[in-house]
Amino acid sequence: MTGPDARWTLAVDHGTTTTVGAWADVDPRDGWVRVGPVGIDGSPTMPSAVLSRPDGAVLAGRPALEAGALDPAAALLRTRPHLAASTGGPPELLTQYPRPTTAVDVATALVAKVVRSEAARRGTLPSAVVLLHPASWSTAACEALRAAGAAALSAIPYTSPDQLQLLDSPRAAAHRLGGQGRLLVVDIGGAATELAVVDRGSDHTGSIAAARTVNVGGEVLDDALAQLVLDRAPQPFSARVRFGGDLEAYRAWFRLRTGVREGKETLAASGSVAIALPALPPDSPVPGVVQLTHADLGAMLAPGLEEIAQGIGAVVDTLTGPRPAMLVRGGLAEMPRVREWIAERTGFGLAHGGDPGAVSAFGPASGAAAWAAERLGLGRH
Ligand SMILES: Nc1ncnc2c1ncn2[C@@H]1O[C@H](COP(=O)(O)OP(=O)(O)OP(=O)(O)O)[C@@H](O)[C@H]1O
Ligand SMILES: [Mg+2]
Repeated sequence: MTGPDARWTLAVDHGTTTTVGAWADVDPRDGWVRVGPVGIDGSPTMPSAVLSRPDGAVLAGRPALEAGALDPAAALLRTRPHLAASTGGPPELLTQYPRPTTAVDVATALVAKVVRSEAARRGTLPSAVVLLHPASWSTAACEALRAAGAAALSAIPYTSPDQLQLLDSPRAAAHRLGGQGRLLVVDIGGAATELAVVDRGSDHTGSIAAARTVNVGGEVLDDALAQLVLDRAPQPFSARVRFGGDLEAYRAWFRLRTGVREGKETLAASGSVAIALPALPPDSPVPGVVQLTHADLGAMLAPGLEEIAQGIGAVVDTLTGPRPAMLVRGGLAEMPRVREWIAERTGFGLAHGGDPGAVSAFGPASGAAAWAAERLGLGRH
């Protein structure tokens, strides 16, 4: 029996749409490493939104998204693609107002919020923090992420940059799943779909045998569905939202797009959804509604899924040896029948079987936190 150990590790998966954290510690009852999601503002996931308010406050996550509905310059969404595009020069400036803010600053605020949330709950600081990134990221992109992690830790007393590690998310996902041999990880996220073949080694680390990015992701789907809603909305409303350029038009667009993002889950599960159109006086004095159906979603998703299937073929064609098992994860993979369709179309079996944790939003973060705990020698082996 191993005694209780105050040490714990934390992993942060800062995604384009959603940022999640997972911890690993040792169960005092049996000495095994266990993992769990970090709760932030009462939820296990946090929108990747940051708002720098004119009064000096920096809001991260849900409060930023809520405040962003009112202020066009406010919520900085989709900062992760800017990190991904880093070339090693100074970090990209995303906004000047109310103060200069870079892609690295936005990632810093989100990583710091995850670390603080779990540290506050436990009253202790993590022994290691792991940041996840796609396998396809360049060294410069990884260094931009590392800079964000280092800045986040420097704001917290008694932590140091050597506690910071980077790990690619397919290896982290494979670690969470366990098992041996080759695993094809398909991650259909907010920005893009990342494909990677992991060679799961016996040393618990593994290596990447091949990686590829396909331009299919949730944010583009949301944009397209929101445009479809505008196409079907009364003409004065659409014209004002598209070309008005005023604050109320911006707010209406923000609410519409948020409604589409949230409504997408209902649409996928139940076959149709009513998207509310806010009133936009004087030309649109009363609220309206537009219906989206399963056929609309299917028409947009089908070419994307076909592209993913072709990408899978291309990435696996570069390899020799037995066909890998496949793990399909990411927000869009939560839609009914998406995993099954990809499995059927490509002929690869789904590897996660009866393990919902391996495909959940925290799968890679949990794997990375456990990986770091094992490297520190926490728990039984
Ligand atoms: N149950 C669900 N049904 C349908 N769509 C969902 C569901 N859950 C999440 N999504 C959608 O998945 C997308 C986000 O996926 P995910 O959280 O994997 O992306 P991310 O990790 O933030 O992005 P990336 O990894 O590309 O940087 C969003 O468009 C979200 O609306
Ligand atoms: Mg992701």
